[in-house]
Amino acid sequence: MILMKPTYSIIGPGRLGRALARAIAASGARVAAIGSRRRVRLRGLSAPITLDPATAASAADVVLITTGDSDITTVVDRILSSRNSLDGRVFLHCSGILTSDVLEPLRSRGASIGSLHPLQTFPLPPPPPAIFHRTTFYFEGDTKARSAARRLVKRLGSSLHLLRPGDKILYHAAAVMVSNYQVAIFDGALKLLGRCGFSRADGRKMLSPLAARTTKNLTARDPSSALTGPIARGDLEIVRMHVGQIRKRSPDLLPLYCQLGLQAVAVARCRGRNRRLDEIARTLRGAAG
Ligand SMILES: NC(=O)c1ccc[n+]([C@@H]2O[C@H](COP(=O)([O-])OP(=O)(O)OC[C@H]3O[C@@H](n4cnc5c(N)ncnc54)[C@H](OP(=O)(O)O)[C@@H]3O)[C@@H](O)[C@H]2O)c1
Repeated sequence: MILMKPTYSIIGPGRLGRALARAIAASGARVAAIGSRRRVRLRGLSAPITLDPATAASAADVVLITTGDSDITTVVDRILSSRNSLDGRVFLHCSGILTSDVLEPLRSRGASIGSLHPLQTFPLPPPPPAIFHRTTFYFEGDTKARSAARRLVKRLGSSLHLLRPGDKILYHAAAVMVSNYQVAIFDGALKLLGRCGFSRADGRKMLSPLAARTTKNLTARDPSSALTGPIARGDLEIVRMHVGQIRKRSPDLLPLYCQLGLQAVAVARCRGRNRRLDEIARTLRGAAG
């Protein structure tokens, strides 16, 4: 049974694990143990570190598994290999793509299981606990695990939404596009500025206000009204000039420019179809090869 004030263990003290451990401790709840596969020093955390996942699991009411996705099964196997009772314990993994099925063997030993994914990016060093105030968690799993997840998320100042297990992979692809691919696009833009002689540091300074404002616009309105620039204006000549210069000076980025341009055309078409957009799409498709 979940106690009034549950205790937490975290197995996998990486980017997300450290951020969660800090935020849970800052919220006044007890982090009973941290399971690691090697000795680590975790600044600002007093929880004991154990190299045995089973010890970490038996130390708390709610166990958060924050290893990489491919290591979750190893952790589950190690927990199962101990004789410790799992009755009444809740196990949540934080993978964005895997469902709670990967924890099923724990359920057959009496545990409740779920997947609890914060839709946020956590680099190192860990961001301050307040990051969770601006983070929404997505859950799928059994009823008891859902209650425990809801309680934890509330404690972190965030909110919980439910996901259908069959939707997790697409949900994760959407998250990857908006976060990781944005990083990849930014890097591509830095390379173009590099061809103009700007250092990466200068390029970052130049592009950051533009990236920040674009993100802000997207939080306030639909992409179809947030889109500005040559494709939104239907300016074929500018797109041709871009294609010509990228082909000449940074051809490796041409397919990316063209594919993203085609998606921008699709967004612009939400405002109404016109011939100039059709011509832009033809140009981009032709240049993409
Ligand atoms: N980072 C994010 O932005 C983010 C956001 C949302 C969700 N997530 C999810 O969180 C999970 C972890 O991602 P991450 O980015 O935090 O990865 P990460 O930085 O690589 O951290 C994984 C941690 O797990 C440890 N680990 C691996 N196997 C272990 C084992 N058998 N026992 C104990 N610890 C073990 C690793 O130890 P070593 O240091 O020894 O390798 C590392 O400290 C993933 O499922 C991911 O989808 C991450």
